[in-house]
Formats: sequence, C-alpha cells, structure tokens
Amino acid sequence: MRSLRTALSLASLVTGALMLFTAPAAHAADTPLRDLAAAKGKIVGTAVTGSKLTGTYGDIAGAQFSSLTPGNAMKWGSVEPTQGSFNWTEADQIVAFAEAHGQQVRGHTLVWHNQNPSWLTNGSWTSAQLSSLLQNHISTEVGRYKGRIAAWDVVNEPFNEDGTYRSTLWYNGLGADYIANALTWAHAADPAAKLYINDYNVEGVNAKSTALYNLVKSLKDRGVPIDGVGLQAHLILGQVPSTLQQNIQRFADLGVDVAITELDVRMALPADSAKLAQQAADYKSVVAACVAVARCVNVTVWGFADSDSWVPSTFPGYGAATPYDDNYAPKPAYYGIAEALGGTTTPPPSTDGCTAAYSVTNQWSTGFTGEVRIACSGASLSSWKVNWTYGAGQQVTQAWNATCTQSGAAVTCANASYNGTVPDGGSVTFGFNGSWSGSNPVPTVTLG
Ligand code: XIL
Repeated sequence: MRSLRTALSLASLVTGALMLFTAPAAHAADTPLRDLAAAKGKIVGTAVTGSKLTGTYGDIAGAQFSSLTPGNAMKWGSVEPTQGSFNWTEADQIVAFAEAHGQQVRGHTLVWHNQNPSWLTNGSWTSAQLSSLLQNHISTEVGRYKGRIAAWDVVNEPFNEDGTYRSTLWYNGLGADYIANALTWAHAADPAAKLYINDYNVEGVNAKSTALYNLVKSLKDRGVPIDGVGLQAHLILGQVPSTLQQNIQRFADLGVDVAITELDVRMALPADSAKLAQQAADYKSVVAACVAVARCVNVTVWGFADSDSWVPSTFPGYGAATPYDDNYAPKPAYYGIAEALGGTTTPPPSTDGCTAAYSVTNQWSTGFTGEVRIACSGASLSSWKVNWTYGAGQQVTQAWNATCTQSGAAVTCANASYNGTVPDGGSVTFGFNGSWSGSNPVPTVTLG
C-alpha cells in the first residue's frame, strides 16, 4: 500500500512535468561540428561520395561539415576516363551540394601517381607531351570550377618515406619541377584558389615531412604559388605523432596554411569500447593540435561513416576508422572531435549488455498503457535514454518513472532523477499512457 502511494505520487509529479517540444536528434551533439569549428575560426570537412548525398548520409554531410572533399570524383581517372572525353557528373554534384549547404570544396587531386586513366599511364609520351597533357588537365579541371573551389590538393603524395622524390610518371618524365609547374598552372586557372601539396606520414616531424618543409620553403623562395600543406593523417589507433602540433607550427611559421586533409584512425577489428575510447582520444588530440595553431585552417575526415571508409578494403583486418558507425550513429570519436572544438556534449553511455523492451500492458478504445523495461546483464548504466518512432500516429500523453518527450512520431524518454542506475543483473521499468486509433503496433526501441 505504501509503495503504491509512493508510485502514484511520483506518477503525478512526472506527469505534471511532461513537456512536448521539438527534441534534437537523439544522439548527435547539440551543436553541429561545423558551428563548433566556426567558433574557433576553423573549417571541418569530410570526404564524400556523390551518389550517397541523400537521406541520412546527406543530412549529416550537410549539417555537420563546412567543407567537402570529393573522395574520388575529381581524380583524373574519374573525370577523363577516355582521352578527351570527360565525366564531371559526380564532381558537379558534390560542388552543387556544397554550394547549397554553404560549404567549401577542397578539390582533390590534380597530380598523383594513382587513379590516373589507363590511356595516360599506358601511353608512351615524350616529356614535352607529358608536360602539355598535365598543363591541359590542370587548366581544364581548375578552370571548370574557377571561383567555386576553396583549395586544391594540386600535388598528391610526391615523397618517399625517406624524403626523396617518389618515382612516378611525373617525376620520371618531368623532373622535380613538375611540382612548381603544376602549382603555376593551377594558379593561372583560378588565382583565388588556395594551392596545396598533400601527403601522408608527414604529420609528425620526420624525414618525409622535413623534405616537404624544404620543398615548400624553396617554392616560396622562388615565388611559386604555394598556399598550404595537407597532412593526410591516415593514422593507426594510439599512434598520433607526439610532434604533430610542432610540425603544424613549423609549416605555419614558413608562411603557409596547414590542413588535416584525410583524417581517419583505423583499428584492428573487431572494435570494442576500449578501442573506441582510444580512438576518441586520438581524434581529439589531432583536432586539438589544429585548433592550437592559427594557420591550421581545416580538419577533414576521410569519410565520416565507417560504411563509407576506404580502410577495410585497403588495410585488411582494420576498420571502424571514422567518427560515425555503419548506421550513421556518432561514435565516441565524434564526441572527441566535438570536445576539441569546444563542444561540451558528452557521449551517451555504452549500452552494450543492456536492452530495452516495449510492451502494451493495457489497451481500450482510444488509449493504451505501455511500459518499457531496461535490463542489464554483464553491464550497468548510470543513466539511460530510450527512443522509438511510432508508426501509426500514436501519441504519448503522460509518463511515469521517466521524462518523455514526443516530436512528430519520435519519442525520447530519459530516466527520472531517481532511476538512472541499472545495475548488472538488474532492471528498471517506466510506464506511459498514450492515444491510438486504427492500430497500435509495437515500435522498435533503442537504448542510448
Ligand atoms: C582513396 C579513396 O578513398 C578510395 O575510395 C579509393 O579506392 C582509393 O583512394 N590518399 C589520398 C586519397 O590522397 O585520394 C585516397 O583515397 C586515400 C589515400
């Protein structure tokens, strides 16, 4: 009797506090990354695949990021698969999407040894022919998007690990000056675009980054248009170079901008909560290093979702390298980025080992009573949130032992002050009344 009275008085208390308002997305940080970055004077970007820019993928790409890099769409092999016959479809689509969402575009990439068309790599060219092919390619592509591309990765991956020039079609055919010429041609085609040299394993101070440093210094001394360096940052879990910020700073001191252009942090699969926490720390420290240096202007992730990452196919056994999972739910890494950008949202607790089950316990002509039971086994919770989406127009009218809000069909219920804890082996139940008509199907609930 006593406990029933207690439950009833709690019920009326919670019921009285029930509020209906437009709730933010269940899991994402309240402030989008692009707004957090803007407050720090930074741009935050992602590589994208043009064909995916609809639905949830498009929503996240548009809402969270202030810069897009075509992952493949602007590479020579994509835009000119047959000599003289161009395909700009995906590149145009990405540029249009970016413009519609107030985003910058990083053009990627004009001069590289990979993903060139076979007619180019299989041809035999004199150096004069090679030079004019390259000049035409740069003039055509940069000219096409003149005024619409904030920055170009003009030259990609010119160095070996020891700091010598990589032996490529370009270096072998044209000598090291292919780099200066490419920059000069790109500048002529779009004088407003910032021109970058981009490479990997140049994040810390090492032989390769020092070679890049010396190249940039000599280009500047010669008056060659070079505006920035791109540090790709394809990193391995737990291996953010300790000299990252120092390295960014030395390029800044040279008088060029720095961008983190292709950030991802891969881990041996399967992922687990310890690895995901380490990954969050890694993302956070990379973004923090950029935030710390005024001339570090952009941090771009190489695909924002694990389902859109190059890692699993390129590094067998590795994956889970991006800030969102396969289903576009933000991972701890997302919150690591947000925190480095000054965001305060903490990630939802891990719900591994805990489940939520929805049931209708009573139903009459216009209303029903439902309950959700949260149970943990091999895990525990110190707070919880349960979400579901009604499929038949049901409406929660009151709730007890939880605070529930409904926006459209989406319901979110959070623990009350006194029942956030679900111990290992224990459970918590909350209830609600709702209205229905026609049918009252049981929704799928998620615990967050
Ligand atoms: C990758 C793409 O993400 C993949 O889809 C493609 O199959 C291979 O290239 N460094 C770069 C990027 O500069 O262009 C590469 O992108 C990843 C490594």
